[in-house]
Amino acid sequence: MTLRVQSIGFIGAGRLAASLSAALQEAGYPVTAVASRNTQSAATLSSALGGGVKDGTAASVAGTCDLVFLTVADAEISALSAGLPWRAEQAVIHCSGALDLAVLDTASNRGALAGCLHPLQSFPSRSPEPARFKGIFCGIEAPAPLAAYLEDAARATGARSFRLEGVDRSLYHAAAVFASNEVVALMAAASRLWGAAGLPETTAREALSPLLLASAANVARQPLARALTGPVARGDVATVRRHLAALEDEPELARLYRALSAELLRLELGHSPEIARQLAALLHAEPE
Ligand SMILES: NC(=O)c1ccc[n+]([C@@H]2O[C@H](COP(=O)([O-])OP(=O)(O)OC[C@H]3O[C@@H](n4cnc5c(N)ncnc54)[C@H](OP(=O)(O)O)[C@@H]3O)[C@@H](O)[C@H]2O)c1
Repeated sequence: MTLRVQSIGFIGAGRLAASLSAALQEAGYPVTAVASRNTQSAATLSSALGGGVKDGTAASVAGTCDLVFLTVADAEISALSAGLPWRAEQAVIHCSGALDLAVLDTASNRGALAGCLHPLQSFPSRSPEPARFKGIFCGIEAPAPLAAYLEDAARATGARSFRLEGVDRSLYHAAAVFASNEVVALMAAASRLWGAAGLPETTAREALSPLLLASAANVARQPLARALTGPVARGDVATVRRHLAALEDEPELARLYRALSAELLRLELGHSPEIARQLAALLHAEPE
């Protein structure tokens, strides 16, 4: 059975909706209507999309579109879905990485096909940026034929996809948080130390960003153990000891340094047993 989709609607005209709707539209998918809590948000997105995309109420989008993305904050999805007039053979999709399909139970109970399409990407702006889908991965969970439709749609936007059936969503989403949000935390910690070292904290982001980007590129290109540089990779116990001594006045950052460096010791770094033991002892970690 193939899903027949002649109209795609978005309820929630925020950051993801702006880029996803534009990416689908650019790929030739029939985005026809947008709604949001604030009518101005919906009007702004519908006019940015152009091409006759209408703005309306959530009920009108749910009532008229064959496939509807609920692109609202995770905490709003279930209550929003429960109040809408879903019908059989319609498709309803949420985009949360942290939630499974149970949040759409009210839609499924009325015969709609419920699915999830979670782009592993950061969408920081309400301006449509369809290119953000190129080369990324999207996690998909849905019953056939909706899953096949979403896989095709993801491919058409330039993304690849994988299935989320049976995946622990909280752990999966926490992994994504480590790879994106926690990078911001690392830069915040680095900026504090930059200031503590006597450099102007305002210059930290600019000065450290090329280093961050080069490390990210290294990670993307090769296995983690080979991507790693620095004292833990070199087995430079004396430098790690000096760092920890200098961090004595910054106990929170010392804990963070130890925890992250101990995680590095899980990689196959090829140290001698003695170097591995000394690093593990300093970092309070299990030896390699
Ligand atoms: N942004 C990302 O990087 C990203 C990445 C992957 C997945 N996601 C997922 O995408 C979904 C949306 O996230 P987002 O970052 O795009 O959020 P967002 O920028 O905060 O946008 C949410 C939009 O929904 C509207 N809204 C809130 N409650 C509503 C309701 N009851 N009825 C109708 N509209 C409502 C908001 O209000 P107004 O109308 O007042 O503007 C806003 O336009 C979430 O499930 C999130 O987990 C986001």
